[in-house]
Amino acid sequence: MSVAPISLWTAVMRRALALAELGRGGAAPNPMVGAVLLKDGQVVAEGFHRRAGSGHAEVECLRGIPAHLSRGADLVVSLEPCCHHGRTGPCTELILERGIARVVVATVDPNPLVAGQGLAALRRGGVETHSGLLAREARELNRNFFRRMERGRPWITLKWAQSLDGRIAAMAGARTLLSGAQSRLETLRLRAAHPGLLVGIGTALADDPRLGLDLPKGQIQGRAPHRLVLDSRARLPLESRLVRSAGEQALTVLCGSHAPASRVRALQACGVGVAVHASSHPPLDWVMAQALALGLDGLLVEGGAKVHGAFLEAGLVDEIHIVTAPLLLGRGVPCVEMPGGTLLSEWRLGLSRRLGADSWHVWRPKGDC
Ligand SMILES: NC(=O)c1ccc[n+]([C@@H]2O[C@H](COP(=O)([O-])OP(=O)(O)OC[C@H]3O[C@@H](n4cnc5c(N)ncnc54)[C@H](OP(=O)(O)O)[C@@H]3O)[C@@H](O)[C@H]2O)c1
Repeated sequence: MSVAPISLWTAVMRRALALAELGRGGAAPNPMVGAVLLKDGQVVAEGFHRRAGSGHAEVECLRGIPAHLSRGADLVVSLEPCCHHGRTGPCTELILERGIARVVVATVDPNPLVAGQGLAALRRGGVETHSGLLAREARELNRNFFRRMERGRPWITLKWAQSLDGRIAAMAGARTLLSGAQSRLETLRLRAAHPGLLVGIGTALADDPRLGLDLPKGQIQGRAPHRLVLDSRARLPLESRLVRSAGEQALTVLCGSHAPASRVRALQACGVGVAVHASSHPPLDWVMAQALALGLDGLLVEGGAKVHGAFLEAGLVDEIHIVTAPLLLGRGVPCVEMPGGTLLSEWRLGLSRRLGADSWHVWRPKGDC
């Protein structure tokens, strides 16, 4: 990249990533993508992928741009251009037609239908290509999409509030309010950032949560997430807040073969989606597949201890948010129940901050992006 200094390319890629972010909430199940067209080092056009089925970022960026501006120009895109026929034509063909001289991408598209073939097609057409600029940021932006493409499952975030001695409730089956107002607001933001939320039936029975985004308008943006409950025997009460709100916010109960048919029908009659697995307990790989089938490529798992343990033991967790409140319980429900013991030494601390009197720590597996 000789025409402009490195700092310019980085700044333009940051702009492409910011444009991509504008597609949050609309682009899924497609990735969020932004594109910037540069002619002689000057920005002449921008675009982003607004929603699935609408124009890709490259198409939006080049729309209405006269040939003399696109010919010989540089295109900076946050993700490798596609080279296959989906709901729209291949972006690589458009780029070649428009005579773009150079394409700079943050990262290769993990979709097996693309996976480097987009850049290869451009090179075959005589376009200079560069990949890897702000790749980490680009992967982070589309982490749900990358998880789904690379591992065939949703991105999984675990979140719990605990006392200083690592208890999430004072006694089994009871709700204990631990975190302060600021942490609770932040929890709602975290919910809004995930298409799906999941709890175990132990939590649903003990806490009777609604798992909504109940906030004054303007404080939270985004669609209320789809709620999932792991409930082998369909014990979720019809009068629970989860079931009573099923008309306004989607709810799916994941059961096992011992769930009585009458309970399943009663839940369905309340507008609850029910999926039943052939074994007595819903296995987590099936739960992952159910989530993807519902279009949920990111799940926030909010308890309780057994569900945390099951996800950790299965190696399905990408991030853990732990909110620690300044109190000691001495006894009660541990944050994780895992028969094989906890392995949190395999995790590294990322973000750490104070919210009122609470501390909020975010953990990622060592070696992960
Ligand atoms: N402080 C916090 O942030 C926080 C958050 C959430 C919960 N909590 C507390 O945690 C406590 C509840 O925790 P808990 O451990 O008793 O219950 P839980 O983890 O919420 O639910 C566990 C139950 O889920 C069902 N389940 C179905 N499929 C499963 C699977 N594949 N893996 C694991 N579980 C599956 C099982 O019941 P079936 O066999 O009947 O299906 C299992 O007993 C409550 O006291 C609640 O207040 C605290």
